[in-house]
Amino acid sequence: MCLTIPAQVLEVKDNIAKVEEGQGIKEVDVGFIKDLKKGDWILHTVGTVVRKIDAKDAQEIIELLKKTAYYPKKTSVEFQKILEKAQKNIELSRQDIKYLLLSEGEEKETLYSEANLVRQTYLRDFFCIHGIIEFSNYCKNDCFYCGLRTENKNLKRYRMTIPEIVKTAVGAVNKKGYKLLVLQSGEDYFYTDEMLVEIIKKIKEKCRVFIFMSVGERGYRAYKRMKEAGVSGVLFRFETSNPRLFKRLHPKGKNLKNRLEHLKFFRDLGYFIATGSLIGLPGQKIDDLIEDILMTKKWANMVSMGPFLPTENTPLAISKCQYLNDKKVELNLKMISVLRLISKSSRIPVVTALETLAGVDIRKKALQSGANSLMFNLTPAKYRPHYKIYGNKFYQEENIWEKYGLFKDKESYQMLEERMARELEV
Ligand code: 5AD
Repeated sequence: MCLTIPAQVLEVKDNIAKVEEGQGIKEVDVGFIKDLKKGDWILHTVGTVVRKIDAKDAQEIIELLKKTAYYPKKTSVEFQKILEKAQKNIELSRQDIKYLLLSEGEEKETLYSEANLVRQTYLRDFFCIHGIIEFSNYCKNDCFYCGLRTENKNLKRYRMTIPEIVKTAVGAVNKKGYKLLVLQSGEDYFYTDEMLVEIIKKIKEKCRVFIFMSVGERGYRAYKRMKEAGVSGVLFRFETSNPRLFKRLHPKGKNLKNRLEHLKFFRDLGYFIATGSLIGLPGQKIDDLIEDILMTKKWANMVSMGPFLPTENTPLAISKCQYLNDKKVELNLKMISVLRLISKSSRIPVVTALETLAGVDIRKKALQSGANSLMFNLTPAKYRPHYKIYGNKFYQEENIWEKYGLFKDKESYQMLEERMARELEV
């Protein structure tokens, strides 16, 4: 579902409402809202009022999405040249990206606000809200950073049944209005390809929703079948673009090459790809993050990156990456901003790991630094505490978003469909 910036009604005449929003005065069709009057606050999309909204909630959303007008004072000529290049769509060099990632003070704030401006210019006032259902925490892999690794014998494991998964997904769509759901699990072959296909088909039969799968390296045949069953996208991080670091973090013969091969055939199969890396891994250097940004730009229709959080019962439980550790939050924000500057209309969600590390206020900061979507956890409450990729995962009821996301409105599905189609064409 998508959220638009609220607007205030100035006048209503002949089913047309004149409304004022941040960017000026607009005329919109009043649609089904017949009792609209001067002073009301509304949400509108594709030229039509969709619903009235409380003045207080309107202010809260406006505040959240506010333009951060930041006028640089002390920025260097080099910094200004980099921003100019980005504005003119000239490719940024590795050196340029490094400069931005290392920026401080006024330059850092200017980077964030520039990215916010680019988001507003290219994506207007739409924010997308996606849901994730974590249906199994079994995993055959042993990634050193991840709490779901097989070797973690202290984790209470669960698997949702097919009817449970379908019910959770259909409920999220029909009751709450989600239009895009990610189905995620560890790499768990208890669910055969046939079972995954069955889940997908059953959900698609019962509701209109975009399904993204996040089930690991299951190979070409499985992904071909899932695509044919109606899946739209994949959430599949390459984790790090550095092949040596990748090898160090992934035992059992896993390698970056196989991950990249997956990304390649995802693209051939027409999948919408959400990918990216972990930020602040032990041994990771700033140059690795630059390569991560470039690799993300190459593959991602949607960016998915977040900070690495040391997790109990893993070999990296007390890991300290001296170099990047303290700066993970800031680096994540800067990476969001750089990706927004070089990939102007891409989808960039604020991820749970960032909220876990930095608290809920980071959401606003990230949205004002170029991010444009959110991913909410829809895993049933009884399973949620056991999906411990990392500890103390951030969770909150998303009242205002779920209340005012354009749920139940077919426009918001169509809008998403058109946008995804456009994205895949290029
Ligand atoms: N901290 C942050 N993110 C993690 N992931 C796995 N372990 C951690 C951790 N300790 C991320 C990986 C994976 C996604 C599902 O979760 O990037 O792709």
